[in-house]
Amino acid sequence: MQRVTVSTPGKLILLGEHAVVYGYPCIVAAVDKYLSVSVTELDAEEDKIVTPGVADQSFVKEAIHIFKEKFSLKKNISLTTKSELNNFGLGSSAAVVVATIKALTNLFQIDLPNKELFDLAYKSVLRIQGKASGFDIAASIYGGTIYFDGKTKKTELLSKKELPLIVAFTGRKGNTRAMIKKVYELRKKKPELIDKIFCRITQLVKSGKEAIKEKNWGELGQVMDENQVLLTKLQVTTPAIDKLIIATRKAGAYGAKLSGAGGGDCIIAVVSAMRQRQVKKALRKNGGKILDLTVGVGGRI
Ligand code: PMV
Repeated sequence: MQRVTVSTPGKLILLGEHAVVYGYPCIVAAVDKYLSVSVTELDAEEDKIVTPGVADQSFVKEAIHIFKEKFSLKKNISLTTKSELNNFGLGSSAAVVVATIKALTNLFQIDLPNKELFDLAYKSVLRIQGKASGFDIAASIYGGTIYFDGKTKKTELLSKKELPLIVAFTGRKGNTRAMIKKVYELRKKKPELIDKIFCRITQLVKSGKEAIKEKNWGELGQVMDENQVLLTKLQVTTPAIDKLIIATRKAGAYGAKLSGAGGGDCIIAVVSAMRQRQVKKALRKNGGKILDLTVGVGGRI
């Protein structure tokens, strides 16, 4: 029986989280850690889904459901996953949805352009998560470092090369849904203030875009520092995140911030080759777990 396997990269958001949910742009980079999905046809009453390394099966189930609905498919499938993304907030939900839909299109020989793959994957994530920008889906489909427009969902490739970033896990998994809700409530209470913050974040995203294109890492670090100040105002940082960020700066990083919804997960720091050792040491000393990955290089699906 034919078996199809598709691998998609995980991601880290570099600038613009939360604002992107409200239609503003962000910058996201794929990482060289992958999630793969294997599928075969199954002669059974229902699908068989085994997902080690993917904590929440609802995303896979929804992706299969949406795929079957869209292509009026009556057949059942067996699906298994293999993940290098672990529980570090590297975008396993988006990656598994993209890989599932892509694997199913390959298995059933359906030609689905990436734009439509994005739309189906985004629909799946929205049904489960309620609110989401889709930036992580774009990263899993296109790879590299991309500028993502939260309104039009258009992407612009900024780089395919490794970025000089160190990534450290705080030790605690963040809850994306809860953090999105927190910012939503804050915006309901203080719309003008929050929209002003989102506009400033957008300016930083634009500066960061130029800095990445010019490989101006000092500037990128500075922009990340400012973005972190604004994320603190959005109340999504934690003492563990702050501690790691302060440690990286003291050890000579160009700049650092949390990456993702906040409340835990990872911090990212822009660091010159000369300072790598000191920054890693400082992060470990302050409770961070350095992730062994390369940022900005995950391949196109
Ligand atoms: O927590 P993560 O890594 O899934 O990132 C969430 C980023 C948000 O902007 C808060 C949500 C989104 O869908 O853009």
